[in-house]
Amino acid sequence: MSASASDLNASGTPPGRRQILVTSALPYANGQIHIGHLVEYIQTDIWVRALRMHGHEVYYVGADDTHGTPIMLKAEQEGVTPKQLIDRVWQEHTRDFKNFGISFDNYYTTDSEENRVLSESIYVALRDAGLIDAREIEQAYDPVKEMFLPDRFIKGECPKCGAKDQYGDSCEVCGSTYSPTDLINPYSVVSGATPVRRKSTHYFFRLSDPRCEAFLRDWVGGLAQPEATNKMREWLGASGDAKLADWDISRDAPYFGFEIPDAPGKYFYVWLDAPVGYYASFRNLCAQRGIDFDAWIRKGSTAEQYHFIGKDILYFHTLFWPAMLEFSGHRTPTNVFAHGFLTVDGAKMSKSRGTFITANSYIEAGMNPEWLRYYFAAKLNGTMEDIDLNLDDFQARVNSDLVGKYVNIASRAAGFLIKRFDGRVQDSALHHPLLGTLRAALPQIAAHYEARDYGRALRQTMELADAVNSYVDTAKPWDQAKDPANAVALHETCSVSLEAFRLLSLALKPVLPQVAQAAEAFLGIEPLVWADAERPLSSSRPVNAYKHLMTRVDPKQIDALLEANRSSLQATPAAQTGATSKATEAPGKAIANGKNGANGKEEEAPIISIDDFAKIDLRIARIVDCKAVEGSDKLLQLTLDVGEEKTRNVFSGIKSAYQPEQLVGKLTVMVANLAPRKMKFGLSEGMVLAASAADEKAEPGIYVLEPNSGAKPGMRVK
Ligand code: MSP
Ligand code: ZN
Repeated sequence: MSASASDLNASGTPPGRRQILVTSALPYANGQIHIGHLVEYIQTDIWVRALRMHGHEVYYVGADDTHGTPIMLKAEQEGVTPKQLIDRVWQEHTRDFKNFGISFDNYYTTDSEENRVLSESIYVALRDAGLIDAREIEQAYDPVKEMFLPDRFIKGECPKCGAKDQYGDSCEVCGSTYSPTDLINPYSVVSGATPVRRKSTHYFFRLSDPRCEAFLRDWVGGLAQPEATNKMREWLGASGDAKLADWDISRDAPYFGFEIPDAPGKYFYVWLDAPVGYYASFRNLCAQRGIDFDAWIRKGSTAEQYHFIGKDILYFHTLFWPAMLEFSGHRTPTNVFAHGFLTVDGAKMSKSRGTFITANSYIEAGMNPEWLRYYFAAKLNGTMEDIDLNLDDFQARVNSDLVGKYVNIASRAAGFLIKRFDGRVQDSALHHPLLGTLRAALPQIAAHYEARDYGRALRQTMELADAVNSYVDTAKPWDQAKDPANAVALHETCSVSLEAFRLLSLALKPVLPQVAQAAEAFLGIEPLVWADAERPLSSSRPVNAYKHLMTRVDPKQIDALLEANRSSLQATPAAQTGATSKATEAPGKAIANGKNGANGKEEEAPIISIDDFAKIDLRIARIVDCKAVEGSDKLLQLTLDVGEEKTRNVFSGIKSAYQPEQLVGKLTVMVANLAPRKMKFGLSEGMVLAASAADEKAEPGIYVLEPNSGAKPGMRVK
């Protein structure tokens, strides 16, 4: 973007160009990203993309939330250091976000130097403002493990119904609530020991201070969502109620986190440094890009700051976080946008039903992430209502809206335009009134995105797609094409259709970035922004060959997805961090995601660079042994000599095509640097390459690759 000097205001920004910092909540670094999390990241990403398309200066930052007792104990269980655990999970999370098109400008970690420095300085400022208190409190303590126990690490018998192994706050059997001290025969989940009561000094943030209350009463007035405002008012109570309690911000060693500067052995509670992690991630980005961090976060900054969160963590983001910022000399959030919880087929996500769907299992099932983006977007309306993923509706809506209505417009017009008109539009056709309607709607659609009413934006877009389809149905290009005398009319129909398709692609772009990119490549245009509504296609730039943009959801994929998530239940915890066994059994899936293109051909995967290719270490391997796997009707177990000291063990889903003895002694090609995967049957240390048709039902057959003679185990394939 260029601007002349006179266009710039004091901060060097052109007028009308807003500076916007956006965050999503930081996921805990001890578990996988699942589709419930994705509601939030997709919601935020759509908003960010829509605002970027106005040309604003938008930064979207995230990070893993890495501190606290559960992460410390999980690392211990796995026999790794917390650092090793959080590094591994960071890799998994960034992979998942990338797969779903979440366009973070920076994805960082709360276990960073930036975060330590910022957390300390905020704490010191609060202390100097007289808002930190030290007090002795009594807590449950595990005398064997020698650590204080958070409530969720204490279990015992329900005081009401006697059910065993209940948590310290409520009984899952009879539903009654109580406090951990009411449990009968309580025990520590960590060691099994009986907890004792023990005193210790804790640090508190004095939220009850009248200054905090007065500030929050004022700040709540700016919240965008009435439900959030009501919740806040409930927490604040009537004026003079003094309902806000002080907040315990310290934990005793052992704890994985930041030590409090003036209190050795005391650590910041994870929720103290977690939101500071937003700023730490942004500061890290600023350093990379030369952005003036202080100008964005100091009190009185004209930049905007928005936090997208789930309704379960509203308390932290509308009470503690704004108060921490206000009294440490920072600007406060412009707004906090909370969303509801995801249910699947009307019920809470459930491991036994297979609806606790991880982001990675969705990808491994060969499903298109933009289907889910579209479905969530269609359901999101900017309120805190829960949203339901109804799997039948998901399939119906994606197939009818995206494939049936939108993609169809391009596929119907492209062939004629390319074959008959050299791929060039008829410029005069682009004044058609239908296109005027579409162009006029685009600013409204952009505004619905900004208001986070994506459902409305998409309803309006699909109504326009309906209008375009009925225009095509009336014009009947397939009839026009039969008589050369109708060439001009046919040209007009195709031109109007493709310009309409361009405008619909623009309307859908925040939701479907990949499809929009493919549409831009097909139309031969620059990346679409909102201002392009008024910049029509032109005969001077012919369109390119049309490749099918999106396939339909196949119900079998959904069945397989649920099955994969059900079966990951039986797998070990380590296995859950990798792929599900089902997906691993499908050969070749790691390279092509099995997306079916038109006429049953496998759609070509997006272009990669030679560097991308070089990341895959392909090696010649000799199959020194091959056996059936007991309990699996898909897998063969291969022992491979890859020219290393030790042979590799690989499970491959090729049983339907080969008898084990057919393969013994043969050479093949394997992916040698694929992360090992723990499966139900053992560890799989790579993958052999095999070919199969896109529709394996219609055209069965799996063909393992074999090199020409002369190749030796261990040779690199490149
Ligand atoms: N680590 C904290 C957030 C710290 S922010 C400074 C946390 N992590 S989380 O992993 O439990 O959740 C991350 C986000 O995902 C939260 O906003 C949470 O509301 C959201 N969701 C987690 N499960 C969800 C659903 N089932 N449905 C919708 N959102 C969900 O909380
Ligand atoms: Zn009970």
